[in-house]
Amino acid sequence: MTRIGIILGSTRPNRNGSQVARWVLETASQRGDAEFELIDLRDHPLPHLDEPVAPMFGPSSNAHTRAWAERIAPFDGFVVVTPEYNGGVPGVLKNAFDHLFAEWTDKAVGFVSYGVNGGARAVVQLRTVCSTLGMADVGYQVTISVLTDFENHTTFTPRDHHAAALDKTLDQLIAWSTALAPLRTGTETTLMNS
Ligand SMILES: Cc1cc2nc3c(=O)[nH]c(=O)nc-3n(C[C@H](O)[C@H](O)[C@H](O)COP(=O)(O)O)c2cc1C
Repeated sequence: MTRIGIILGSTRPNRNGSQVARWVLETASQRGDAEFELIDLRDHPLPHLDEPVAPMFGPSSNAHTRAWAERIAPFDGFVVVTPEYNGGVPGVLKNAFDHLFAEWTDKAVGFVSYGVNGGARAVVQLRTVCSTLGMADVGYQVTISVLTDFENHTTFTPRDHHAAALDKTLDQLIAWSTALAPLRTGTETTLMNS
């Protein structure tokens, strides 16, 4: 069955992101057409990029990068749950993308963002990052407001329409993840030899 990783892109203490990611996981798990798993960046602490060779030119010899690659490789697609920090993508999330290449390529990705303004600017940046990695970013997205979808900015109380938006995002994400599967055969060796 198609495997979708839900990447939680915030690691700071008191993060709101864990509530959003749990909601995504619980809502998605009610579907029967894919398997969903949470990937919490707190469980994969990475230094600022310390790869002597750019990841698109070969696998890493660093233990932390290899562990991250092994976590990401089995998935067919991803939902990225991201806040917006100062108009952009959280550094920890960008760093996690930068550590790998082949493990992202020819996979689909969808976005759930949140912020005072919904976090859409972080998603604009992430679409550029993901397409550079050879990912197919689905058009539907979920945009959550810290002002109107949280009580006191801390307790997640999503408005009803977000579940429908998530469903549409997942419909396209799963369809594209499945359709791209034949392209992924041999992807890693092709990239390493090019
Ligand atoms: C360093 C920092 C910068 C922020 N910048 C933005 C911003 O540019 N736009 C926005 O909508 N919200 C911004 N916020 C508010 C966050 O969206 C809100 O605090 C959210 O809960 C952060 O996600 P987290 O709690 O999972 O870390 C910022 C928050 C922090 C901590």
